Parts: sequence; structure tokens; C-alpha cells
Amino acid sequence: MKGQSVMIELKNLSVKYKGSESNALTDINLTFHKGDFVCILGKSGSGKSTLIRCLNGLQQPTEGDVYWNGSSLSTMSEEEIRKVRRKTGMIFQHFNLIPRLSVLQNVLTGMFGYRSTIKNLLGMFTEQEKKQAKQVIFDVGLEDQLNRRVEKLSGGQKQRVGIARAILQQPEALLGDEPVSSLDPGTSNHIFTLLQEMHRRLQLLSIINVHDVTLAKRYATRIIALKAGEIIFDGKPSEFDDEKFFDTYDADDQKQREFSHV
Ligand SMILES: Nc1ncnc2c1ncn2[C@@H]1O[C@H](COP(=O)(O)OP(=O)(O)OP(=O)(O)O)[C@@H](O)[C@H]1O
Ligand SMILES: [Mg+2]
Repeated sequence: MKGQSVMIELKNLSVKYKGSESNALTDINLTFHKGDFVCILGKSGSGKSTLIRCLNGLQQPTEGDVYWNGSSLSTMSEEEIRKVRRKTGMIFQHFNLIPRLSVLQNVLTGMFGYRSTIKNLLGMFTEQEKKQAKQVIFDVGLEDQLNRRVEKLSGGQKQRVGIARAILQQPEALLGDEPVSSLDPGTSNHIFTLLQEMHRRLQLLSIINVHDVTLAKRYATRIIALKAGEIIFDGKPSEFDDEKFFDTYDADDQKQREFSHV
């Protein structure tokens, strides 16, 4: 299983939070390849965020392990884990930006992983670094907002700053935890177009949690559905049919009808 393109592998991974009666994830086995654009579906509480957080060591599994290019996270030193995190760009539902800083300054924070803390604190960025940051800001279409504080931007613009920041990290993998959940459908679609374009151009592995099945079917190359911490579907978007949808979301027609008559 150590094929060239295998980037991340999860083996027999389970997570049980302290004080919880049941597992958040149970015996997950997955292999992710460079070039995969994966959307993870599942209703609230199914384990999507827990899974994403396990991938770069933000969450420790209770059992099993995560392997990056064949090396297990549990045996890595802190420095090695930091390197893995540097290789993963994260984008979040609530953007995680610094509101009072400008678009350019926020995007430049994507370089923090590569720089010493003192230099970060002083905010000293070289001309070369600024040039790189401006290029990614241009790529996400925010060149006319360069010096605007991010608190003044719309949700869609903020998420584009989030994407630019992640891209400036020069990641190998892009992880997203519901990056479009607070955006309207048109803006969400635009953000996914941008993600797909970045994904293809930089030949990334992208793994994105999403609630919107239409978006997942439109953009993903692979869909994984979780239910109560277990994988109930892993396949092509075209195979994620109505039956799988009802199973994933417990959206059984009969139940829906009964509910609407209550
Ligand atoms: N820090 C925590 N401590 C205890 N239990 C937790 C913690 N985080 C999550 N859980 C539980 O683990 C399970 C999976 O949660 P998780 O956040 O991974 O689900 P999710 O699919 O991301 O849900 P959502 O769609 O609402 O974001 C849930 O039952 C949740 O209550
Ligand atoms: Mg979540």
C-alpha cells in the first residue's frame, strides 16, 4: 500500500472523546491520493470534523493511526508533525482570519510556518514574500481589496482570503471543515470553483467537509459519507444516489411524511 501517490492513510482509526459513551469514529480505513478532490458528507455529529482533525494530528486517535507518505503520526516528533501541518492548508467555516488586519497581512500569515516567531511578531516580510502574497490574492480575485481590513469584507470575500492564505503555505493537501456553510448558494458555488481551480493547478489532495450534496456531486472526484462515526459510502459522486442520500441523512420519505403531519 506504499504506492507513489498515496499521501494519507488511515488504518483502523477510532476516536472516543473523554466522557462520551460512544465512539466519534469507529475503525476507519481510508487511503487518500494526490489529486483526489474528496467531499465528506454526513449529518451533524457523524464525525466529519473529528476525521479532518485527525488527518494533521490536531486530534489524536484512541486506536489506529494516520500515515503521511508512509510515516505514522503517532511516532513522529513534534518537529515532524509541524512539518506535516505546514504541508496542509486549512480553511474553516468561520474563516479564522484576523479581523483588524488587511487582506494582504492576513494572507501573509500563511507564511508563518516557514518563519521564525520573532520575525512574525515584528511583521517583517520581505519584498519577495509580499510579491508572492499579492500573486495569490490576484489569483482569488481580491487584488482591489489588498489593503482593506478583512472585517469590512463579505463572507465570500473573507473565504477567498482564507483560501489565499492556505495557498500561500504551498500546501500538498488542502483540508476544509465546512468552508461554505455560512455562505449563500451562489457564493458557495463560486468558492468551490476557485477551490477546484487551485486544486488542479497545484495538483493537491483536497478533503472538504460539506453539508451541500449538490456541491459535493458537482465538484468532488470522490464522496465519502459518514454515519455515526462509520463509513457508509465511499465512491464516485455519480454513485451517490437517492438511496445513499436517504441513508446518510436519515431522510427517509416515509419518516419525512410522518414528521410533516405531526
Ligand atoms: N471535544 C469533544 N468532546 C466530546 N465529544 C465531542 C467533541 N467533539 C465532538 N464530539 C462528539 O463527537 C461526535 C462527532 O462530532 P463531530 O464534530 O466530528 O461531527 P460533525 O460531523 O463534524 O458534526 P457537524 O456537522 O455538526 O459539524 C459527536 O457526537 C460530538 O458530539
Ligand atoms: Mg463539524
